[in-house]
Amino acid sequence: MERIPVIFDCDTGIDDAIAILLALKIPAFDIKGFTCVAGNTPLPKVLRNTGHVLELAGVDLPVYAGADKPLFADATAPTAEHVHGKNGLGDLEFDDPKRAPESMKAWDYIYEEAKRQNGALELIATAPLTNLAMAFLKYKELPKLIRRIVIMGGAASYGNVTPAAEFNIYTDPEAAEIVFNSGVPVHMVGLDVTLKAWFNAEESEKLSAVNEQGMFCHLVGRGEMRYSLGHGFPGMCLHDPCAVIYAAYPELYKTDTVGVHVETLGKYTRGKTVTDFLSDKQFPVKNAVIVYDVDREAFRDKVFELIGSYSA
Ligand code: BDR
Ligand code: CA
Repeated sequence: MERIPVIFDCDTGIDDAIAILLALKIPAFDIKGFTCVAGNTPLPKVLRNTGHVLELAGVDLPVYAGADKPLFADATAPTAEHVHGKNGLGDLEFDDPKRAPESMKAWDYIYEEAKRQNGALELIATAPLTNLAMAFLKYKELPKLIRRIVIMGGAASYGNVTPAAEFNIYTDPEAAEIVFNSGVPVHMVGLDVTLKAWFNAEESEKLSAVNEQGMFCHLVGRGEMRYSLGHGFPGMCLHDPCAVIYAAYPELYKTDTVGVHVETLGKYTRGKTVTDFLSDKQFPVKNAVIVYDVDREAFRDKVFELIGSYSA
């Protein structure tokens, strides 16, 4: 099987961590490296968390530091530590990873890897899109070298930070608009579908019995599970895993081809991914694939299968 070269851009984060563990076990993917951006937690913690997850997976892959704040922010980036904990990983304790991040910047690495892969590279981004936007701003020929971008972010429907905007897009709307305008097809795995990709408490408990990685997924998500159940959800939403599983197993999902642009100005709507299902009307270019539904049980089974493929 010819494997797809992938760079994984993340703000690790509870669900990013689970998504990374899954991505590393997908047979179709050849993960080349990880690029980190401030988001769920500040950049130094994102780097530390990502390094830890790679050690837990037993792989030795490079991690690159990117942006520590959104493109046009003069202050530090907003975070989501109320969800992901003070350390960004549900306040689980762990040692510093042995391998240090690379010295090359994330956007330079994306470009260098894209050239090496000669048009075959795909990007999976489960974080604010600042690193990707920086890469597109700096390297004008980059869009021609990237086959596809799969993001967890946005929604045609409603938001989770504001009524209009989802966290990853809300954090850096200008960056997101650059990515949607890049000319590379963007597959938007947003809240429309990720809110349907939940795990309930029994399923999480069951995963914990599978192996060390399953136990990690269970423990890292405990706080978020409590929070989600307390807010009337059937379980914890696996936003970032939903995007990773989609990237490899699209047959489990429903999609449509649409036009998407990001609201960067609105008083109430900044960060909204405005989605035109009739793209010949408002947005003449169909620049995106929206993912809007998932077979929840098949998704859950795939998570078990992939986590189970770490040795017991
Ligand atoms: C997204 O925001 C972060 O909290 C999660 O890691 C996910 O990428 C969900 O809105
Ligand atoms: Ca994330």
